[in-house]
Amino acid sequence: MKKTLFYFILVSFLWGKENLVYSDEVLSLYSHQNDKKISGRLLPTNAFEVLKEEGDKVFIKITGYVNPKAPSVIYYNDYQRIIVAAFSKNTKLDFSQKTASKSGKWDKVSLEIWADKKEFAKDNQAMLAKAKEQFTNNCGICHALHREKEFNANAWPAIFKSMADRTGIEKKDRWLVIEYLQKNAKDFKKGK
Ligand code: HEC
Repeated sequence: MKKTLFYFILVSFLWGKENLVYSDEVLSLYSHQNDKKISGRLLPTNAFEVLKEEGDKVFIKITGYVNPKAPSVIYYNDYQRIIVAAFSKNTKLDFSQKTASKSGKWDKVSLEIWADKKEFAKDNQAMLAKAKEQFTNNCGICHALHREKEFNANAWPAIFKSMADRTGIEKKDRWLVIEYLQKNAKDFKKGK
């Protein structure tokens, strides 16, 4: 009896959650299913939902925050420049949901858009662990490791980019490491 109740609670807990997945690499986004032209990119470690699959594409839902002054970027929370997805400047994004900002914070939005179909992960723990390993193995060779908590989330991308070419971190993994550093930065707070 107890066991049944336990499984009932577990199943309702799992079903209650959205079906979120993660990519460990930058994922190309397209405004229309058959577009050849990439309209934006979703960055690794950020949760999204797969709404449907068709051919070599998936239709996904991305949720995040938009600064009204820079509406072509979706951010992870409502005040730090931690990018979830970025689009070319002239892309007109058609948000499926938008909640106006409170007291100067950015608007909460959802966007439904096409992306390349790949193997996605059910959680981002393994990819974050890989990013941490890349950071610790590569960034403490010439000088002592500058810890994740040494800099604010907004400062990390420029610092990382200025050093990345001196390391063996492959180009395809660079956004993964940046996202890891920002999400472990001194002033990081969860947005959701
Ligand atoms: C090949 C050697 C080398 C590697 C590898 C390296 N750095 Fe550096 N780093 C330097 C040198 C040299 C400086 C001194 C300033 C300069 O030359 O730009 C420096 C300076 C810094 C600073 C101080 C900047 C400042 O303005 O105070 C930070 C932070 C930093 N590195 C972070 C990193 C990170 C993060 C990585 C890994 C992505 C990394 N470094 C990998 C050589 C390296």
